[in-house]
This record gives sequence, C-alpha cells and structure tokens, in this order.
Amino acid sequence: MVENKWSELFKPLQIGNVVLKNRLIMAPMSAFGPVKEGFVADQTVAFFEERAKHGIGLIIVGGSVATTMGWKGAPMTRNLLRLDGDKFVPGLRRVTEAAHRHHVPIFVQLVPTWGAISKPGPYHVGASPVPLVTAEENLSTGLTIPGGLSLPAPRAATIDEIKAIEQEVVQTVHRMRNAGFDGVELGAHMNYFLTGFLSPRTNLRTDEYGGNAKNRARVVTDILRAIRAEIGPNYPVGVRMPVNEHLPDGIGPEEFGELAVLFQDAGASYIAMTDASYAVMKLATADKDMNIIEHGEAKIFREKVSIPLLMHGVHHPDNILTAVADGHCDGVMMARPLLADPAYPAKLREGKAAEVIHCDRQNLCLRRNFINLPIRCSANPRTGFESHPADQRHTIGMKLQALTESALLWVTTKRPLMRIIMKLAAR
Ligand SMILES: Cc1cc2nc3c(=O)[nH]c(=O)nc-3n(C[C@H](O)[C@H](O)[C@H](O)COP(=O)(O)O)c2cc1C
Repeated sequence: MVENKWSELFKPLQIGNVVLKNRLIMAPMSAFGPVKEGFVADQTVAFFEERAKHGIGLIIVGGSVATTMGWKGAPMTRNLLRLDGDKFVPGLRRVTEAAHRHHVPIFVQLVPTWGAISKPGPYHVGASPVPLVTAEENLSTGLTIPGGLSLPAPRAATIDEIKAIEQEVVQTVHRMRNAGFDGVELGAHMNYFLTGFLSPRTNLRTDEYGGNAKNRARVVTDILRAIRAEIGPNYPVGVRMPVNEHLPDGIGPEEFGELAVLFQDAGASYIAMTDASYAVMKLATADKDMNIIEHGEAKIFREKVSIPLLMHGVHHPDNILTAVADGHCDGVMMARPLLADPAYPAKLREGKAAEVIHCDRQNLCLRRNFINLPIRCSANPRTGFESHPADQRHTIGMKLQALTESALLWVTTKRPLMRIIMKLAAR
C-alpha cells in the first residue's frame, strides 16, 4: 500500500490465531436478506462478497441465531440466518468461501436467543421478567412509534434452560468452525438473552446467576470456558457487550468494564464495545460519531481490559483514525457506513477519502429491518440488490414490490397512522 494519512489504519491486528490486515471491520448486521427459513440465499453471499472484495479487514456476520429456541422466538426472520443445524452449513460455507476468496477473515455472531425482544409466547425467555421500555425520544432517528416502545416482560429462564442454551451454543461453535468461520462472537449486547444477566436492572435472580458481578457474568463465562475446553485457546471468540446502559437505574462503564475483565479471564479473545441498548436506541445507532470516546467509556475499558477492543459508532475517516491512532480502540466496527459504501476501506487505502459515500443516518435500513423487509440504503441503490443484475430493478415485478414497500414504509413514518395500527394490534 502507498503510505498516506490513513496508514495507521492499515496496520495488522491479531485476534486469537487470526491476523487482520487492517483495523476496519464490518460490524454485524442483519442486512443480507431476504432469506427463507434462515437459509443463506444468493443475495446473502453477494452482499458479503461485495464488502469483502473492497479490502475490509474482517467481516462479522450478524443476524445469526445460535439455537433453535432463538429461531422460534425471533421477533422477525427475513434478515436472520440460522446456525442451529447441520443443514445450514452448506449455505454458510458459501458465505465464508466468498470472504476467503478475497483473503478476508470472517467471524459469525452467536445470538443464543432474543431475551426481552423475543416474540411473545413460550420462547420469550430472559434472565428475569423485566420488560423493555423505550421512551419515544430515545428511539433512533427515523423510527416512529407513538408513545415509544413497550414490550411485555419475558419469563425468567430456568437453570435447566440456561444450561441447555449454553450447551447448544458450544455445539454451534463447532458447526461454525466446520462451516469455515475464522472466529465467533457471543452477542451479549442490546437486550438479548445474555445481556439481560449482566445488569442488576434486568437481572433480579437470587440463584447463582444473579447478585454480584461474578454471578451476573456467569452465563457468558461458562459458555466461554466450555468453548475453550472444547476447541482450545487460539480460535477467536469475542464478546459483544454494552459499555453503558445510559439509564438512571442502569449500570455504567465501571461495572461493565468489570464484567469485561471476567470475560477476558474466561478466555474471550476480544471485546466489541457497543453503546446503550434498544432502551436508548438513539445511542446504539447514533446520529453522531465518537460517543463512546467522548463519554469516557473507551478510556475506562482500555484501562481495565488488555485483549483487543473494537468500537462502533464512528463514520468519518478522521474520527476512525483518531479512534485507532490515539489508542481508544484497536479496530472500528463499521455498520451503516458499509451499507452506504462497500468500497470505503479501499478508498482510504488508496488515499481517496474524499470519494467515500457517507451514510445519511436517516436509518432507512433500520426502519425496514423493524418491519421485516429486506434492507435498502438511501445512499446506495445497489445495497440489497447485490445479487441482481443492475437493470433488474426496472422490471414490472420489482417496481410493484418497490411501490408496496414504499407505501408500507410511508405508513410507518406517520404518527397518527401508527397510532391507529398500534390500537388495532393491541385489541
Ligand atoms: C440494518 C442494521 C442491522 C443490524 N443488525 C445487527 C446485528 O445483527 N447484530 C449486531 O450486533 N448489531 C447489529 N446492528 C448494529 C450495528 O452493528 C452497529 O452497532 C450500529 O449500527 C452502530 O454502528 P454504525 O454507526 O456503524 O452503523 C445493526 C445495524 C443496522 C443498521
């Protein structure tokens, strides 16, 4: 590579036995659909290959369900991949081969099940029966839910269920290694199953999974130790976790940092720092860069944790450079920026930062995700169509589909209409 302003970002990073060729990482995103019944589709392969071929340092596949319970309780499915059976492996292998064709390592996120945001019913299971409530002002830009989001509480998982989930996750790690993934990441962030255990706000348990930090970390540390016992010390196993709940009764970076140290001691290879949760979604998918640095969480994690730290929420190249070069993190996870411009890494490597097409942060992608539609990007018309010939969007069928989807989306941005729909849904 030619030496340029961005060279610092193109230094290698070692995670377990994998060496990333640069510090730019594709963040996990359930954005590769539509898929049927959780099987990889041609669009899935094309979506990832398009990002791999422009020189990203690592891909982390998201929207990926590690257990059968997780699939059955999933709130929506069109953008989710199933990892919970051997029949999914041939498709998943197509995804890993697509990344490897371009010499890009690829990890997969393991979300055991969805905790507070699971579909109501028998699989709506969490640490404790604490509901998810999101005040309207805490929603991300573009999401319109009059009165905010308020979901019913999950039921508390039994100890047998927790142990069964742990075991199934370990089996899934074996399967993912066979599918060609170079590493895995435990999804202990947002309001999913594992996350519910971490904070005393959502974990009211009085058994060995509740109370002090060691107990609240237990479900994650047990899984980490079980994985290590099965597959040895070097295969990358990360933990994606919050750094701060940003809620009056929630915990902050000191307490989460303490949990991160327990994960490190139990064998985690990296920590992926994420901000807030669905309860303060405007920080989880933020409108501005660098919150985790400006609010001080990165500094606290850096002081406590010695394994690589990844960070999300940075879009502008100058800020990405500052985040890495000043040591706030070791790598930056990019989500929406890579929907907007898959060639972002190549443009920096070639010193063409001015040519990067930037995400507008209006969250068309997220809005569609929330109503179970395949992803589109207002900055990049090819996103979501990577497997289609460039002219296919002009056929009558595609136009009709686009029209229906636009109408659906339009409805979701109108507060009065949403109020009526929510009233009808509540009957
Ligand atoms: C469409 C979409 C889908 C996402 N799906 C996931 C996911 O499956 N797992 C996950 O951990 N994060 C997911 N995220 C969150 C991103 O990984 C990231 O943390 C967030 O978008 C903030 O980073 P950004 O500012 O680079 O977009 C998703 C984000 C978007 C926009």
